[in-house]
Amino acid sequence: ATIHDQTLSRGNGGELHQFAQGDTPVLTTAQGGPVADDQNTLKVGARGPALIEDFHFREKMFHFDHERIPERVVHARGYGAHGYFETYESLAKYTRADLFQRPGEKTPAFVRFSTVAGSKGSFDLARDVRGFAVKIYTQEGNWDLVGNNIPVFFIQDAIKFPDVIHAVKPEPDRGFPQAQSAHDNFWDFISLTPESMHMIMWVMSDRAIPRSFRFMEGFGVHTFRLLNAKDESTFVKFIWKPKLGLQSVVWNEAVKINGADPDFHRRDLWEAIQSGNFPEWELCVQLFDQKFADSFDFDLLDPTKLIPEEIIKPVPVGRLVLDRMPDNFFAETEQVAFMTQNVPPGIDFSNDPLLQGRNFSYLDTQLKRLGSPNFTHIPINAPKCPFAHFQQDGHMAMRNPVGRTNYQPNSRGEGPRPDPARGFRSFAEEIDAPKVRLRPESFADHYSQARQFFNSQTGPEQKHIAMALTFELSKVEDVVIRERMVAHLLNIDEALGATVADKLGIEKLPKPADAAVTPRDDLPASPALSI
Ligand code: HEM
Repeated sequence: ATIHDQTLSRGNGGELHQFAQGDTPVLTTAQGGPVADDQNTLKVGARGPALIEDFHFREKMFHFDHERIPERVVHARGYGAHGYFETYESLAKYTRADLFQRPGEKTPAFVRFSTVAGSKGSFDLARDVRGFAVKIYTQEGNWDLVGNNIPVFFIQDAIKFPDVIHAVKPEPDRGFPQAQSAHDNFWDFISLTPESMHMIMWVMSDRAIPRSFRFMEGFGVHTFRLLNAKDESTFVKFIWKPKLGLQSVVWNEAVKINGADPDFHRRDLWEAIQSGNFPEWELCVQLFDQKFADSFDFDLLDPTKLIPEEIIKPVPVGRLVLDRMPDNFFAETEQVAFMTQNVPPGIDFSNDPLLQGRNFSYLDTQLKRLGSPNFTHIPINAPKCPFAHFQQDGHMAMRNPVGRTNYQPNSRGEGPRPDPARGFRSFAEEIDAPKVRLRPESFADHYSQARQFFNSQTGPEQKHIAMALTFELSKVEDVVIRERMVAHLLNIDEALGATVADKLGIEKLPKPADAAVTPRDDLPASPALSI
């Protein structure tokens, strides 16, 4: 007989019970009370009624009733893994961030990959942007590089984020569709938002249907600053390059995979890591100074633009290895809270208006999602370095200040104190400007880089873009929206616009959309900074 058989026996009603035997732990309530029967409620007589006195039933049901937390407002579907970041060589010349000082040093990390638009139960092969969120547990606090697999974004200002997400998520009346098929709301918004054209080219490309998480790049998107010990600033863009290279599926495959195995990307990561086939990415940086920023054709604060790699070559500065799956999906992958505001001393923000808004949004949303200002007490979110502060109480507080003193200054010499030398210091940028709600002129060219991306694609890849646009726009009922999109495409590539129009049965080509700035292809060359 198996162990299983030995512990099974029949209860009074013939139902099967599993009882503790040998080393099997005794089932308890959450309060630790041993349980005698977990299959029958306490009743008056075998046929009831049930008694409210049954605390075991009430506790079991109460806890089950509260198992769900809100899914993320975006990037709801995701999959995470543990690993480490290893620094290649010292970046002390550019940053005082502790994790970049000592070659060969490994720092623990947790990564969550995600899709943006679908709900938690959606399928993996949706045509969508993939989130690539990395939490590195440095000796100076957690650094969260909350990126995507696409180097640019739909919008230039965070105030538009609720609009773009409302437009892409299921429509309020009908509650569908998800990211798999196009719909009027999304394309209506996009066709009225020329700044999204560069991102749209990437989203319609094969980049948006990766073969697996292991074959994707990751981008910090925004321009950040590195600050060295002397507080000298260097601008930086962060890029993760997969050791396995880039691979995508084609749309036909994506549709079939979604039907056959909606968890395809999850399973791929799980199986790779469990079989010791650890995926790896190199962290590359594009470094540049104010002089380059001033000479570049685009504004480095504009998140709809990238710096072409031909102009500033990304330099590898370390590697990320994922070598362990979480023990518990909910505790770790679901409860992990990434926040762009989490940067260690030596890494600072730029004034990118999308980044500045994100710095508010992530902290704000974690309170709603995780339900308590103490979400850093959850192990996956806790720093792995010494920490000390005077924050106390609140839901689920686990680590109140110890002793009598919970404030500063205090005359007892107790408790932690700020340290101007080691603490976070913002770059002391001089700004002299009126307080306004204005978009800078330097953010106005919406087509040049969209065209540059389209031109960088091979023939088959360009065809995929045309097919994706045709497929998506064919789902749009409103002809005006279709035509408005074609008018934008004509600004990006005439043949692309004409092909899509033809496939959509638009007989008379619309006039190209008004381009605020004359599109241009020529981009300046400038040497990369050396490490
Ligand atoms: C979630 C990336 C723009 C708000 C995420 C996640 C990623 C990401 C990767 C998933 C994090 C996880 O795995 O838990 C990006 C990138 C952006 C961008 C690369 C642009 C460059 C924005 C903007 C806002 C925003 C502009 C709002 C102003 C959020 C929120 C979540 C989220 C509220 C849910 C966080 C949570 O509940 O844990 N984003 N995002 N994002 N993002 Fe963004």
